[in-house]
Amino acid sequence: MKKHLITPDEITKEQHEVLALVNKVKESKRLNNLEETYSNLQSTNQIFTERKIESFSKAEEKVSNFENLFPGDTSISITEPVILYVDGVFDIIHSGHFNAIRQSKKLTDILYVGVNSDEEVFAVKGPTLLNEKERFELVKACKWADKIIPNTPYSSSIKFLDEIGAHYCAHGDDMAIGADGVDAYSEIKKAGRMKIFKRTEGISTTNLLGRIMMCSEQNNSHTQIYKPLASKFLSTGWRLREFCNEKYPQEGDKIIYIDGAWDLLHPSHIQALEEAKKKGDFLYVGVYDDTTCNAVYGYGNPVLGILERVCNLLALKYVDDVVIGSPRIITEELIKNLGVHKIISEENVYMKNENLEKDPYEVAKKLGIYETIKVENGLNNDFYVERFMKNKDTFLKKYEKKSQSEENYEKTKEIVKEI
Ligand code: CTP
Repeated sequence: MKKHLITPDEITKEQHEVLALVNKVKESKRLNNLEETYSNLQSTNQIFTERKIESFSKAEEKVSNFENLFPGDTSISITEPVILYVDGVFDIIHSGHFNAIRQSKKLTDILYVGVNSDEEVFAVKGPTLLNEKERFELVKACKWADKIIPNTPYSSSIKFLDEIGAHYCAHGDDMAIGADGVDAYSEIKKAGRMKIFKRTEGISTTNLLGRIMMCSEQNNSHTQIYKPLASKFLSTGWRLREFCNEKYPQEGDKIIYIDGAWDLLHPSHIQALEEAKKKGDFLYVGVYDDTTCNAVYGYGNPVLGILERVCNLLALKYVDDVVIGSPRIITEELIKNLGVHKIISEENVYMKNENLEKDPYEVAKKLGIYETIKVENGLNNDFYVERFMKNKDTFLKKYEKKSQSEENYEKTKEIVKEI
């Protein structure tokens, strides 16, 4: 691997500290010193969570700009970080996509995420529910992605990897077939530059299309009894921990709270969370349980089960922690126990089917800690059903074709260990 020498004053003290620790981890791993690796990893993780990943990325950029060696005894040596590229359509982004990005990040130092262009996807898979700009906005909010590349090709090539400066490419253990009917990653696989991770069971865009389709069939009859829509996503404790930030508010932090259903993520959700996070230092996101969501939003809601919604939120960079099954009516007890300084809600909270006796934010209003934010477009869950209905026949055909190939994959897949 290429080595650079760089004088410590070329990078900031903070970046230097992070890079030095990353090097220490690599060195202790190379020497197979497990105890030392573990303690170095702990310190590195602490720095990454405290001071953000940008520190490392910026330092890496500077290092990679160095073509010459710098002499002098104050120099430190830095090994070039590995860059991995993972791409996808990421339509109706879900916990399987986030888990793919999470696993990819574990395989590399720096992760580039490519969002396939509408044109390329249309040629292979037909229309998407979200367009390339919306899909990009959602992927951009993911905490494990260091750089997002828009409008990427569906079938990757060595030329493309070299152009973007990535060493490797990654994909789930399912096969992706390009417009020409050939494995979309065959060239990269042959060159030994492909990494494969476990595809997450029980959730896919096709599966969500099916669930949206069920909603569209029922969505006019709010009086019907709610039946949770089938979900086979396995939320193990281990996986939840992998998604968690393992973070607690620090002394002096301004604590913000925002709640909601957070069903099928759309760009308005991201905007609301980004705005809420800007109001303070630590953002708690309250997530209603399935029954509460149903009471608030009506038949067919939520499309995602509570743990699928929790995983989605924990994958986002604006969310520090979640309150799983948060109460619809915010109590003084909740405010006190979490140490909340400000309760945020959208200006036009959407309550399609709700018949509440009490304003859920009454206590917060009385305490003078309630604030609203304005979110452009104000998209709600019906947005997905509306998009589906606009192109119903095409989506139905797509659903049928893709569910068949997913079923075949399920039958023949080998078990790959999740990382
Ligand atoms: N992926 C995954 N687990 C899932 C779904 C997708 O690990 N349950 C991975 C894919 O293997 C791929 C990446 O996420 O590496 C992006 O997938 P995408 O291109 O969006 O499409 P599909 O693989 O068809 O998945 P989906 O139908 O859910 O969009």
